Amino acid sequence: MTQLTIEGMAVFCKRKGFVYQNSEIYGGLAGFWDFGHLGVELKNNIKYNWWNFHVRQREDIVGIDGSIVTNPKVWKASGHAENFTDALLDCKKCGKRYRADHLLEDELKKEFNAVTLESIKEMIKKHKIKCPKCKSDFSEPKVFNLMFTTNVGPIEEESAKAYLRPETAQLIFTDFKLVAENARMKLPFGIAQIGKAFRNEISPRDFLFRCREFEQMEIEYFVHPDKTGKCPFIKEVLEHELFIYSDEMQEKNKKEKKMKVKEALKKNIIKTEWHAYWLAVEHKWFTGLGAEADNFRIRQHLKEEKSHYALDTWDLEYKFPFGWKELQGMANRTDFDLKQHMEHSKQDLSLFDEESKKKVVPHVVAEPSQGVERAFLVFMFDAYNEDKERGNVVLKLHPKLAPIKAAVFPLVNKPELIEKSREIFDELKKEFNCAYDKSGSVGRRYARNDELGTPFCVTVDFESLDDDSVTLRNRDDTKQIRVKIENLKETMRKLVNQDIEFENAGKLVK
Ligand code: GAP
Repeated sequence: MTQLTIEGMAVFCKRKGFVYQNSEIYGGLAGFWDFGHLGVELKNNIKYNWWNFHVRQREDIVGIDGSIVTNPKVWKASGHAENFTDALLDCKKCGKRYRADHLLEDELKKEFNAVTLESIKEMIKKHKIKCPKCKSDFSEPKVFNLMFTTNVGPIEEESAKAYLRPETAQLIFTDFKLVAENARMKLPFGIAQIGKAFRNEISPRDFLFRCREFEQMEIEYFVHPDKTGKCPFIKEVLEHELFIYSDEMQEKNKKEKKMKVKEALKKNIIKTEWHAYWLAVEHKWFTGLGAEADNFRIRQHLKEEKSHYALDTWDLEYKFPFGWKELQGMANRTDFDLKQHMEHSKQDLSLFDEESKKKVVPHVVAEPSQGVERAFLVFMFDAYNEDKERGNVVLKLHPKLAPIKAAVFPLVNKPELIEKSREIFDELKKEFNCAYDKSGSVGRRYARNDELGTPFCVTVDFESLDDDSVTLRNRDDTKQIRVKIENLKETMRKLVNQDIEFENAGKLVK
């Protein structure tokens, strides 16, 4: 992996048309980003592949698409209205506001995964930390609720106040009974959702990593309360290896350790099979789409760090250029949410268990919850390569994720080659997002497409007019094969899905 900084990635993404600062012509708005013509393709491909892998290819998970604004009672029941807060510090003189844990991290060059107001106060005093902008003192630390508010209807009073959802998960809980009954789901089963979430972050930063508007891909996985120990799918992941960083390792200042899932379970490092299963599955989702396995670790939350609802939480983390950071939070939420909604709504959300002939409130044993923007960054960082020999960037995105699957060019600007290229382009375009490119030398066109992550380039030359074949060039190793035009679509299909090695997909051009 080329070590590009997060700022460097933001510049690259803007220059190539992946991501722009929102409303840049007006000076922008911190924490909001727009996706350009390539960014929206990559983002859609991430979401499509996530949905395919987690929903379409399984029979135990179904989806919903809940609304962004919902009855505010939902957030009272979930605890967000009271507890969804971060600690902030106000400068007494210039009034600048800081997210307390971020300020401590910047000043003391140390990670702070859980801080109380009391400990913030102590550290500010002990290390004599002042406002970085004007070097003055801070007022007492206080908590700040991260939910954005809005009004529903043409009234602006307390009774009309509602919130933009800070997570998609709660909609899954409020719709739980309807989905379970209508989709005739039997425990264990999951409900998935992809959608926007909004958090009024005190200090949005690190480009797409911490935004105020972002998307989540979440699953709530429900299990019978008496069967939270055994996972019927555990065999699929027992041999899977990944870096593990338990609370004990963190407390003893040890480093993460690579081990197999079966070892982590045997040593009781991961307490439940369900948690182990979902953590491994999520790691596999990333690596299956080309991410480098060793750039990930799973880290257990320290006791004081866990959310108000969680029995145990592990994060899937990624080694970003600015350190190991959370990519995906995975909490064991028990029956907290369903019970809260039962109590607040006075509705029965339990399911009838055929075996025991009793009503049961299922437990959420794991909640794979992933931000789309953070996944976007992971795939971009892992794909980004500055190729010294070629003298250009090669963005080695998995073909399934690549915004443009193939670029079609005529070798030179001759009408007969242009006509043939356009025919091929029009045909391929019916199935794949393709580009037609006729400007500059072929070398320049290859370089341009390498930088956009286009995995295959199709060149139409004079021979093509005689033998009805084209040259297909592979982005990652620049190898070239000759493929019959009539077989091109099928070959592309196999190559995008990585069902065939490039060299075996046609006649290798020496
Ligand atoms: N339903 C559980 C939940 O929302 P979370 O850890 O607060 O848990 C889940 O968020 C994921 O959403 C994070 O792991 C991250 O990938 C993404 N996420 C959270 N806040 C974000 C932000 N401000 N900007 C971008 N992504 C964010």
